[in-house]
Amino acid sequence: MNILLLGSGGREHALAWKMKQSKLCDKLFIAPGNAGTASVGENININVNDFEQQKQFCIDNKIDLIVVGPEDPLVNGVYDFFKKQEDWKGIIIAPSKYGAQLEGSKAFSKKFMQRQNIPTAGYAEFDKNNFDEGKKYIAQHSLPIVLKADGLAAGKGVVIASSHEEALNVFEEMIINKQFGEASSKVVIEEFLSGIEVSVFVLTDGKDYKIIGHAKDYKRIGEGDSGLNTGGMGCVTPVPFVDDIFMQKVEEKIIQPTIEGLFKENIEYKGFVFFGLINVKNEPFVIEYNCRMGDPETEVVLPRLKNDLVELFVQLCNGELNKATIEFDERACATVVAVSGGYPGDYEKGKIISFPNNIPNGSLIFHAGTKVANDEVVTNGGRVLAVTSYGKNIREAAQQSKNILKEISFDGMNFRNDIGYEFE
Ligand code: AMP
Ligand code: GLY
Repeated sequence: MNILLLGSGGREHALAWKMKQSKLCDKLFIAPGNAGTASVGENININVNDFEQQKQFCIDNKIDLIVVGPEDPLVNGVYDFFKKQEDWKGIIIAPSKYGAQLEGSKAFSKKFMQRQNIPTAGYAEFDKNNFDEGKKYIAQHSLPIVLKADGLAAGKGVVIASSHEEALNVFEEMIINKQFGEASSKVVIEEFLSGIEVSVFVLTDGKDYKIIGHAKDYKRIGEGDSGLNTGGMGCVTPVPFVDDIFMQKVEEKIIQPTIEGLFKENIEYKGFVFFGLINVKNEPFVIEYNCRMGDPETEVVLPRLKNDLVELFVQLCNGELNKATIEFDERACATVVAVSGGYPGDYEKGKIISFPNNIPNGSLIFHAGTKVANDEVVTNGGRVLAVTSYGKNIREAAQQSKNILKEISFDGMNFRNDIGYEFE
């Protein structure tokens, strides 16, 4: 099969690396890709949201399968676009535009969870029409208060306010001053849940599902989970508290009702569901849904998945997902992300990256923000590389990644030394 993968981050390098190992994969193209994906397949210069150009490319290059990495094209309706084409009849791993609202609208996902009786934080939604009511709601709300812009806000749309005054300011910023444009014209106000977060990843055809892994991600820039939020500074899997008993609760209370809900509500969905969960006293609650894989979660989930990913995609599209048996590598996996100096604030790009000659013990260097310039690999984003290693436990895997990172350098490079610190 010829495959087109959309995206350009560490997640896409990991997806490309995994798909390239499939016996079903012939040509692999990545749009637009990065310096890492260029070593696995062929990068093509097409924007992830330019569906017309993608379609022409698919026709010209006999693409059989489209796989979508990031949320933007999913929420913009890439699935619906390709499904209605008469001159391209391949398969696409993605939810419908309506289904992608599970990620694209916090209010949509909250209502969905309420209808399906899925455990999540209590909430209310407001816009400019009931703004004053919202202010009263905030004033009597317990602290802290979670405020979420309804739409996509590049991971910046959630604020946890520790005082009523701060919450009122954020509320006004979002709705009246349109801090995130249309995305914050509606705001969800949520009860704060206290616990450890973990993400679970599922492949579904909208009827059946398979769990393909789980991971814990480290979002803060600083060690000990301090400082500003980032896209993710590292990830580990498997997470010790995610034992059989906890997973059974996740399946019964969250995954099964979600997939049944998609089916009952006739929501077309042939792709990934990312369940962002929080463990509150051994009970799982949904913090958010995403309609894609996570980044850097993918960089640990796929290295542990033993199955042929392209074969799973084909089974999914043929209604044969139930026939698949998911198998995992016994070892733990950790990824540690190298970021540009200054990230998540302002940072410079174009720094030359120097790599080690040998990468020991099957470790993997996934590229995120990189590109090739004048025959050199240079930095091209905030998160630059994700170094994934295996180990007999999380500590050993993380240590191995840190050892490799010490052999990598670029001007201003920074990484967290404590990924997986709470675990053995
Ligand atoms: P989201 O974009 O919905 O994933 O939210 C970003 C982050 O905010 C989550 O990963 C959590 O750390 C935190 N968060 C969101 N909602 C809640 C909540 N109801 N209670 C506690 N923390 C939350
Ligand atoms: N690492 C979190 C995400 O991909 O949304």
